[in-house]
Parts: sequence; structure tokens; C-alpha cells
Amino acid sequence: MKKYGLVIALVVLTTMGCLKGQDDPVFPSPDLTIPVDESVTLQKAMPFPFGAAVNVGLLKNNTTYRNLVIKEYNSLTAENAMKFTQLHPSENVYTWADADYLVDFAQQNGKRVHGHTLIWYKNPPSWVLNYQGDAQAWDNLLKNHIQTVVSHFKGKVASWDVVNEAMADNGTLRDCIWLQKLGADYIAKSFIYAHQADPDALLFYNDFGHEYSTTKRTAIINMVNNLKQQGVPIDGIGLQMHTNYMQSDKNLADAINTAVATGLKVHIAELDISMNPNNIPDLTFSAGLAEQQKAKYEFIVKTYNAIPKNQQFGITTWNVSDADTWIRGEYNRPDWPLPFNDNYERKAAYQGILDGVK
Ligand code: G3I
Repeated sequence: MKKYGLVIALVVLTTMGCLKGQDDPVFPSPDLTIPVDESVTLQKAMPFPFGAAVNVGLLKNNTTYRNLVIKEYNSLTAENAMKFTQLHPSENVYTWADADYLVDFAQQNGKRVHGHTLIWYKNPPSWVLNYQGDAQAWDNLLKNHIQTVVSHFKGKVASWDVVNEAMADNGTLRDCIWLQKLGADYIAKSFIYAHQADPDALLFYNDFGHEYSTTKRTAIINMVNNLKQQGVPIDGIGLQMHTNYMQSDKNLADAINTAVATGLKVHIAELDISMNPNNIPDLTFSAGLAEQQKAKYEFIVKTYNAIPKNQQFGITTWNVSDADTWIRGEYNRPDWPLPFNDNYERKAAYQGILDGVK
């Protein structure tokens, strides 16, 4: 009874907008949790690595978050801590503290670390945007950044998203500082430099949109196949899969299976399933939506479980709970894309993941 009282109070407070913070949008879901069998965890239940992107601030300061990460996952990605700006804010300054914290945490708790990301069009630090130099100087800049970072984590970070989101939706290379200064070769060079620094690290090309744009997907697959044919050291494809519950099963399966056809490892690298892709401002999370989300998680996991074992690098969700998702902040809308609710309790989506490997 006490539990129902709490749920009713939560719903009332939510309706009144009382729980919404000033800066940080909060959209708690009603109590749509599943019964918890403490002996079941994702890392034990999945026949391939199952990970989450983690926020280092939460890892340090939120015990519930930290304990859940320890309990549920065996692979971790830094949501932000290993990006260029975070690690290399000025030309001669590297700031390792947060990334080192994450790597130490992973080592202490027996987790694999996937590095994200060496080269990305988005948010390069201003010193890079303002950098003056000829093609050789830009090549050195790229090489120095990649090799300093990969060497720093050598033996501790198992794999890297070497280049992230280089392709535009129209299937041409995205305009960015790296393309402007180094031409299309910046992609191959990035892989070669990373491989030189740590020949044991698995190297991935990571991007989004495989499931919603055949144009973009085809361009990415062609690019990756060309890299392979040229002997560029690439080991895998990251499918970000920031998707939504309305995405068709066929498109999701095509995204996964087209990547599998390259023969490379496939990482579902940033999975989340938005429940409010149309930005409805007053949407609430219902039992019906929870069931649809569960079915979509199940389908993705089931499809991935059917690919060849040696190509399964793993599935990573983009953070842990609905309270931590980037989507609420980015789109300022209510949304519940992850398998744990705002209180870090298991949602139906969690059961969907388990059912995907039954
Ligand atoms: O750390 C600062 C904080 O000091 C400051 O007060 C605050 C004010 O806005 O910003 C904080 O930085 C934010 C950072 O996340 C850490 O929370 C940035 O503004 C914000 O832009 C940044 O967003 C991240 C985004 O990538 C851009 O780097 C998201 O958390 C992260 O989830 C998102 O992740 C990307 C993947 O790397 C690539 N694929 C898409 C995915 C989602 O966009």
C-alpha cells in the first residue's frame, strides 16, 4: 500500500511540475518497474559484453549509480571524458584526471574499457579551430593527439572509436576541420596512427543513422570496405543506434546485418530507445509505451545475438538510467530511453534485453 501511495504522490507532483529542476530537466516515470531477481544481472545474462557509457561525475558522486554500474555491466565507455576537448584543452595541456579515474575504476572492478573518441567533427577545442599551420603541421597535430592519448591508455583501453561521425546524412564526408585541413585521408591516417601507438587495441569507425538512412549506411559501409581493402587497420564498426520505439524492426535488422556483412566486429555502441521522438512536451511514460520499448530492446538484442559470435564486440547503452540520458538535456523534452528508470530501478526494457537472448 505504501508503495502505491508513493506512486500516486509522484504522479501528482509530476503533473504539478514540482519535480522539474530549473536547469536540469527531470521527467520521472511512474512506477513501471519489473520484479527484481538480484541473482540476474545484464553482465551475467548476456552471452556477449554488455556495457554502458558512464558519466564520471556520477560515478564519483552518486553511490546508487556507481553500484549499479559495478553490478550490471562488464564494458564501459566514457560518455565524455575521453573526447578531444576534455583530454586536450590546449595545445600543450592534457587533462587525464577524469579519464584516468574511469580507467582505474574499470580495472578495480574487472570491466573492459572502450575509448570514445579520438577524432570527431564536433566540439574541437578552440585551439584546434584557431590553429595555423601547413598540411604537415596539421598532420602532426592529428598524429600527436592520437598517439599521446592511445599511448597513455595502452594496455588499459581495449578498443577505440578512432573516428566518429565522419559521414553526413547525404552520404558525403561531413564538412569539418579535419576534412578541410587534411582531406579525406584524415580517416585512414587516424587509424594508422592509433594502430602504431597500440597495435593490440581494436579500432572502430563509429557513426549513427544506419537504421534510418540507406544512403548514409551505404556510404559508411563502402568507406569502411575501402579502408579494409587499402590495408588500413580497422577492426570494427560502431552502430550508435540512438533510435526510437517507432523505428521498424526491418530497418534495425538491416543496419546490424549490413555491418555484419563487412566481416568486421560490430558494436552497438550507443544504444537508447527514445519514447518521445516527436517532442511532445507533456507526454507521460505509460505501461503501453513501456511494453513497446521492451519489445524494441528485445528485437535489437535478439538480432544481435544471432550474428556470428566472433563479430560480437558487444552492446553498450548510452548511459544507465532515464535520469542520466543526454536526450532530455539535448531536446528539452520528457523521455525515458534507457532500461533503468529515474530511481535506477529495472524497467520493462530491462526484461526485453534479457528476453532477447532466451
Ligand atoms: O561539463 C560542462 C559543464 O561544466 C557545464 O556547466 C555545462 C553547461 O552546459 O556543460 C558541460 O558540458 C556538457 C557535457 O556534455 C558534459 O555534461 C556539454 O555542454 C554537452 O554538450 C555535452 O554533451 C555531450 C555530447 O555528446 C557532446 O559532447 C553528451 O553528454 C553526450 O551524451 C553526447 O554523446 C554523443 C556521443 O559522444 C557521440 N554520438 C552521439 C552522442 C549523443 O549526442
